[in-house]
Amino acid sequence: MRAITIAIDGHSSTGKSTVAKQLADYIGYVYVDSGAMYRGVTLFALKHGFITEGYFDKTALINALPEIKLSFVKNDTGKSELLLNGENVEKAIRTLEVSEFVSPVATVSEVRKKLVEQQQELGKGGGVVMDGRDIGTVVFPKADLKIFMTASAQIRAQRRHEELLKRGDKVTFDEVLENVEERDNIDSNRKDSPLRVAEDAIVIDNSEMNVEDQFQMILQLAKDRIAGRPLK
Ligand code: DC
Repeated sequence: MRAITIAIDGHSSTGKSTVAKQLADYIGYVYVDSGAMYRGVTLFALKHGFITEGYFDKTALINALPEIKLSFVKNDTGKSELLLNGENVEKAIRTLEVSEFVSPVATVSEVRKKLVEQQQELGKGGGVVMDGRDIGTVVFPKADLKIFMTASAQIRAQRRHEELLKRGDKVTFDEVLENVEERDNIDSNRKDSPLRVAEDAIVIDNSEMNVEDQFQMILQLAKDRIAGRPLK
């Protein structure tokens, strides 16, 4: 069986990581959540006081980059979790505070360069499903299968709001919607590696799709690619 590279990009809160994880488990590939890595750098910046309300000291973060070591470990259920300098930060990187500052951090070219190199290393042998914003355009421009996922901002905010409430975070729908729109705006308009659809990507709008239908659709595309069949 060919060990291919699968890139899943798209807007925030489109369920990319859910389907990417599901697909990787099903076909026995490694799953890499590249957004978690940008979140890890953001958490580091927050912890070190490089980001305070209304101010982001980019130079301090850039100087501290060599001190940031990111890696993934599998937990008891087989889910991969992020370690920041050896500490498990999987929960800490999913807060609304980190979500608020991660897009500005992801505009910094020095941050991107460091993370892209590590992502390329993680996926160099193939047999990988990686999700993010620039996987099919920058990290693996020659990926065998590229998916671009999108959905309306309202639907994405609704899904994310439910998720945060379930975790016990006290946030309003409007705060979440504002964050989703703000991130779309920064991710799509940044100078370095903006979010865009790769020419050879298959676009899936999942506003009206359930998780299972979407999984089956992507699984079929992956099977076709692995078997070397052209995509329909
Ligand atoms: O996938 P996510 O929502 O956890 O990603 C968090 C942020 O990280 C997102 O707003 C933009 C940034 N990101 C990026 O710039 N490039 C990637 N490959 C992945 C994420």
